[in-house]
Amino acid sequence: MMKNILVTGGAGFIGSNFVLYMLKEHKDICLINLDKLTYAGNLENLKGIEGDTRHVFVQGDIGDAVLVGELFKKYDIDSVVNFAAESHVDRSIENPGVFAQTNVMGTVNLLSCARKAWEQEDGSYPKGVKFVQVSTDEVYGSLGETGFFTESTPLCPHSPYSASKASADLFVMAWHDTYGLPVNITRCSNNYGPFQFPEKLIPLMIHNACHKKNLPVYGDGLNVRDWLYVEDHCKAIDKVLRGGATGEVYNVGGHNERTNIDIVKKIIGLVNEKVDKSVDETLIQYVADRKGHDRRYGIDPEKIQKALGWSPETAFEDGIERTIRWYLDNDEWLQDVTSGAYMEYYEKMYKNR
Ligand code: NAD
Ligand code: TYD
Repeated sequence: MMKNILVTGGAGFIGSNFVLYMLKEHKDICLINLDKLTYAGNLENLKGIEGDTRHVFVQGDIGDAVLVGELFKKYDIDSVVNFAAESHVDRSIENPGVFAQTNVMGTVNLLSCARKAWEQEDGSYPKGVKFVQVSTDEVYGSLGETGFFTESTPLCPHSPYSASKASADLFVMAWHDTYGLPVNITRCSNNYGPFQFPEKLIPLMIHNACHKKNLPVYGDGLNVRDWLYVEDHCKAIDKVLRGGATGEVYNVGGHNERTNIDIVKKIIGLVNEKVDKSVDETLIQYVADRKGHDRRYGIDPEKIQKALGWSPETAFEDGIERTIRWYLDNDEWLQDVTSGAYMEYYEKMYKNR
């Protein structure tokens, strides 16, 4: 069956990786890519599929009811994968309003449009329609030294970002429980890989190390994140889209927990080996901690492994080398996204920290 999938945020980091992956893997799909092109969206990420008639790019806001309604009609959309979001915790601490607007109200609009397009007179939905919400493990809050997040861990978000994502998740489940909309939610751990905007830990450290700039580590550097290579996340979403049981949540992660300082030291080692022998640990600068900084995230991925046969394929050692290689090979991309507004952001966020 031909699938007409509305992918939102498909010019951002994970969204663009998903678009490229899906077009590579599936012949019989058409992707309608709706992206507002905020600072985090970049059409350069989609250069590799220029001219592919199975991909249509539309610049616009997921909160625009008229536009989204038109897209459902025009392209006979039968699935939605919602990546579009404001995604950076530090920005959410500075400017939370836009996180509520896009992540909560934008998702509510997509849900309303999906229901309007799909709900039949008797309240049922055609076979095969599906709304997938791409969420995050951050909705569960912070772990102590032991244990993992499962799908039944209570939501306990701390940052404005995670609060907005948790709210969106609740609206998605409300549309399922109230209107019967066929939905899934995925909650993945931290991603890394090509096209990630250098405000996030890994690309920021790669960029700074390559330019021999200080490497700003928040607090004591011992916060733990559970890292997954972005293509493994894309594969998980594809499996959920095609095989997820209606109304279910799936956690996605690969048991790859690392402290931030270990990640930074790993990047220093690789940049030293591959780029510049003078790059070393003296670049590390401990800076003021993030407000409300979650200590540890760790995913239990057993449900998606058992139910959908997903497991991560890229080992961290390979993934991080590939990622550094990608940034080195795509210096122009990195230069483009780190000029102009990025410089102002960096100054504001890190200057007197
Ligand atoms: P990103 O910031 O790189 O990309 C977000 C994209 O959404 C951009 O292309 C941006 O232009 C677009 N966008 C923002 N507001 C929009 C709006 N109102 N309408 C339409 N498009 C809009 O984010 P990412 O890291 O690729 O994350 C994608 C999704 O995955 C997010 O929902 C995020 O919460 C979730 N997630 C991210 C991670 C991670 O480690 N990055 C982990 C788990 C889940
Ligand atoms: P980040 O990439 O922003 O992802 P998230 O906050 O969504 O997990 O940050 C990952 C970890 O790295 C987090 O514990 C904060 C820390 N961090 C730093 O120490 N320095 C930095 O400059 C950044 C951006 C993050």
